Amino acid sequence: MFCINKDENIEQNYRHMVTAIKNLLEDETDEIANLSNISAMINSYIADLNWVGFYIMKGGELVLGPFQGGPACIRIKVGNGVCGTTVARKETILVEDVHSFEGHIACDSATNAEIVLPIFKNGEVYGVLDLDSPILGRFSEVEAKPLQQIADLIGDFLSK
Ligand code: SME
Repeated sequence: MFCINKDENIEQNYRHMVTAIKNLLEDETDEIANLSNISAMINSYIADLNWVGFYIMKGGELVLGPFQGGPACIRIKVGNGVCGTTVARKETILVEDVHSFEGHIACDSATNAEIVLPIFKNGEVYGVLDLDSPILGRFSEVEAKPLQQIADLIGDFLSK
């Protein structure tokens, strides 16, 4: 449950990450414990992150869930920021430069790039997985693919 190799064999590293998270979800049923460890594992496997965690839909808005990084804004309305827009569109949003995303919510001024993926529970948006990086253009399909697998694994776990 630690970073094997952040610089070389990135795809292999990410395959390990997905396998480790799959095993975690098979071994433990507690939702908060699993989301907490998943945020810690992603933080360990993916380089250059300044924040990674979850926002969960509660009472019609996103509320801060388990995460790694600095304190973050607690509530985000659907349609606001990258996270709320992800919920509204029900699709992953990859932002190479957050300063060019209208309405981006800056929890940490160090953030320059962001990727947010929706998580579905029984067909409804349960919440989002959000990753921030201080490096412009940090995220690409190389990250989006394994992160999508993780979002799907979490969705399957939650839908059981
Ligand atoms: N940047 C996000 C807010 C959450 S923080 O990045 C942790 C947004 O625009 O929705």
